[in-house]
Amino acid sequence: MDGSQVSRIQNATIDETAKAPRAPTEAEWSTTIDFLTRNLRPGISGTIADEYPLSLGRSQRHNMRVIVDDGQIIAHAVMKPIVVKTPIGVFKVAGLGSVVTSENNRNQGHSTRIIESCLSAAKDADCDLAILWTDLFDFYRRMGFELAGSEVSVLIDRDLTNGAATPTFKFVDSSKIAPDALLRLFQQHSVSSHRTTDEIRALLSIPNSRVSTAWDASGKMVAYAIEGKGADLDGYVHEWGGSSSSLVALLSHMRATQKRDLRLIAPGHAHNLIAKLESQGCEVHRGYLGMVKIINAESFFAKIHRQARALGISDLVLEDSGGVFKFGRGKNIYSTSSATDLVKLLLGPEKPTALHSFDPATSNAFEQVLPIRLWIWGWDSV
Ligand SMILES: CC(C)(COP(=O)(O)OP(=O)(O)OC[C@H]1O[C@@H](n2cnc3c(N)ncnc32)[C@H](O)[C@@H]1OP(=O)(O)O)[C@@H](O)C(=O)NCCC(=O)NCCS
Repeated sequence: MDGSQVSRIQNATIDETAKAPRAPTEAEWSTTIDFLTRNLRPGISGTIADEYPLSLGRSQRHNMRVIVDDGQIIAHAVMKPIVVKTPIGVFKVAGLGSVVTSENNRNQGHSTRIIESCLSAAKDADCDLAILWTDLFDFYRRMGFELAGSEVSVLIDRDLTNGAATPTFKFVDSSKIAPDALLRLFQQHSVSSHRTTDEIRALLSIPNSRVSTAWDASGKMVAYAIEGKGADLDGYVHEWGGSSSSLVALLSHMRATQKRDLRLIAPGHAHNLIAKLESQGCEVHRGYLGMVKIINAESFFAKIHRQARALGISDLVLEDSGGVFKFGRGKNIYSTSSATDLVKLLLGPEKPTALHSFDPATSNAFEQVLPIRLWIWGWDSV
């Protein structure tokens, strides 16, 4: 091998390394935000970091990934670990977002590599699952994501008070509210993420967002609802909390003051609220929570096993046997090598028996345990 060959190989290695996904340096954070704002939010007055203070803030730099070529950022994605409390345990979910490659550099595999780097960071952070929100279904299917989980949207297109005597609430349309009062209601959800009051304070200042609250006669906040989030979710109430009667009154108030129909986004397990709105004639649409990929099958399955045991089901089988997933009960074992089929079985939205015909014992166990109630609130979407 002569000297020139050695030099060429070294240059190739340096070039490859330069284009490998990595976290932006401290000095690169603002350039990264400029790149994202220019490519994903052209024309806005602030920056995209104002819309995503918890995933694109300076303190989240370690979760961001960029590809730099010739000193310029050409691609980006961010991975935000979300700790989700559910009735069957705590799940760690990696939210992926702000995926973009600059126009001149597309179709060279940059986004694929950057997402792979985010998924590897999610694994290192002990995430059970990764989730993202997109309409590029086929692009993400190639990387093992599949539509799964349950999301219900309800069209609020009418007065919901029906002229009936309802308790008198005072409604306030303002984001200047005490974060801890909102946190108290948020924590009453059966599925919620871990949030601090400081984080709620930051979320309350997201632009293009309308915050409405209902207060009882003793001056206590009894419901909140949030519509809009930066450039996203205009007309969608994506965060809410409180008793269903106060919420229904609050939604009716928001529709009247905003003088437009709104859509409430809710988890499939919010049966009371959905039934209440449906009984008033509101149109209900059942869809998917997002595109999901299992990151750590072992820890994810262990949580499902624990729940099964708590329900007295000691012979549930759910395991990853070298890329073949085995599931069932006792000696009745089914298998698939498709992680995407499995993610639908575990997260729904369909019931397991609607997806496959199982023997009665397995059906009975699966119907008790699955689908898992997973939900990511709008403020946590990345
Ligand atoms: C989608 C996007 C991030 C892809 O970036 P990229 O660096 O070109 O992606 P890669 O080179 O890794 O992959 C390109 C592949 O994805 C496919 N692809 C690109 N855009 C697609 C789309 N809208 N729908 C389906 N597939 C798409 C390409 O056809 C190509 O496939 P091929 O390799 O079989 O030819 C880029 O087009 C982009 O920045 N778009 C605008 C912002 C956006 O939509 N972001 C996604 C938000 S969820």
